[in-house]
Amino acid sequence: MKKLLLTAVLAASPLFAQISAKGEVPYVAFPVKMGQGFDEVQANCLMCHSFGYIINQGKQSKKFWRGKVDKMIVHFKAPINKQSADIVVEYLFEHYGNGKEE
Ligand code: HEC
Repeated sequence: MKKLLLTAVLAASPLFAQISAKGEVPYVAFPVKMGQGFDEVQANCLMCHSFGYIINQGKQSKKFWRGKVDKMIVHFKAPINKQSADIVVEYLFEHYGNGKEE
């Protein structure tokens, strides 16, 4: 009886092996939209936190993004110059914007 059980288990195991080998590895696309300006985000924003902080905000207005970038500079002393800040705001509004200025 034991032998039979063992045989059954061994016979079944390749099946499991096959299933796990084929197993669904969840593929999660990193939802970062590349594009002009992404370099600036990478250089100016991602040294302190991940992109998640940004995309978790959802689609927002240009004013909102401008406010966030200003907040980073004023409150968290992010070393971002005006030109880069503008490019970042444009990038965020283009890819994570709701189409509204205000
Ligand atoms: C000097 C470090 C630093 C830099 C550089 C920086 N951040 Fe932040 N950021 C923070 C901190 C600190 C928080 C708040 C973390 C917390 O509340 O846990 C934050 C939070 C955020 C949030 C979450 C919402 C909020 O108001 O707290 C957003 C959105 C954000 N940052 C966007 C940006 C963008 C866009 C840039 C680039 C222009 C940037 N950050 C650069 C430090 C930084």
